[in-house]
This record gives sequence, C-alpha cells and structure tokens, in this order.
Amino acid sequence: MKIAIASDHGGFALKQQIMDYLAELGYEYKDFGCFNEESMDYPDIAFPTAQAVASGKFERGILICGTGIGVSICANKVHGIRCALCGDILSAQLTRQHNDSNMLAMGGRIIGSETAKAITRTWLETEFSGGRHQRRIDKISALDR
Ligand code: RB5
Repeated sequence: MKIAIASDHGGFALKQQIMDYLAELGYEYKDFGCFNEESMDYPDIAFPTAQAVASGKFERGILICGTGIGVSICANKVHGIRCALCGDILSAQLTRQHNDSNMLAMGGRIIGSETAKAITRTWLETEFSGGRHQRRIDKISALDR
C-alpha cells in the first residue's frame, strides 16, 4: 500500500514520528511537505496530497496540522476523498469500517505521538465492512458528481 503524507508546520514534528513508524511497519510512503517548521498555509500541502490520493497514485493519505481540522476540510473538497479527523482509536477503526475513509487527519497539537501511532496503525489495518455501509458511500459519491 502506497501512502501520501503531509503536514503544515503545526503537524511537522508529529509527521516525522509517523513517517518513522510507517517505515518500521514496512509501508511505502511519500512526503508531500512541508519540509521544515517555518509557518506555512495548510491548503498548500493538503490539496496536492488529496489530489494524489484521488488520482489513484496513492491508496491512502495522512494529513497532519495543528488541530487536523484545516487539512481535513481541504481534503474533503477533493472529489473522491473521504478524510476522517481522528483523535482516538475507536474512531479510526469505525471510520474505516463504516466510511471507507481514504485519508486520515490528525492534530499535532492535540494528540500525543503514541496515540497518533496507534490511530495510524488501526486505520491502516482495518478493512471496510461493506454491506449497508457501501450504500451510504454510494450516496456520498453521488454528491461528488
Ligand atoms: C496553524 O497555526 C494552524 O492554524 C493549523 O495547523 C491548523 O490547526 C488549522 O486547522
């Protein structure tokens, strides 16, 4: 599974830890920026990352900003993206099972690195449940058209 990952300055430190963790777990990833802790505008990294996932070049995407809110708002404006902002493990599990989310957003100023790693692993390893949830995803997809 190829993963696109990005952060703004508010998520930069947590992104470094999550990239190390992805490598440890054996996932292939590409860092879409930012590349230092200088203040920058999160739409500038969130949109290209979401577009890379929507294009099919990457199966999943992970976005981190200070709260996770700004990047998730941006990502969800890209057709085909279902980006879930998660601050706990159960939400990470349920958004995969119920929403088939293809992007995960987290807040670098909100959660600690151990929680973020557990959320990331759960989100990557949990399968979509399908069934009645597919009908709901189809209704979301219809909104994109
Ligand atoms: C940057 O200061 C901050 O606004 C950003 O990281 C994010 O939290 C926005 O939603």
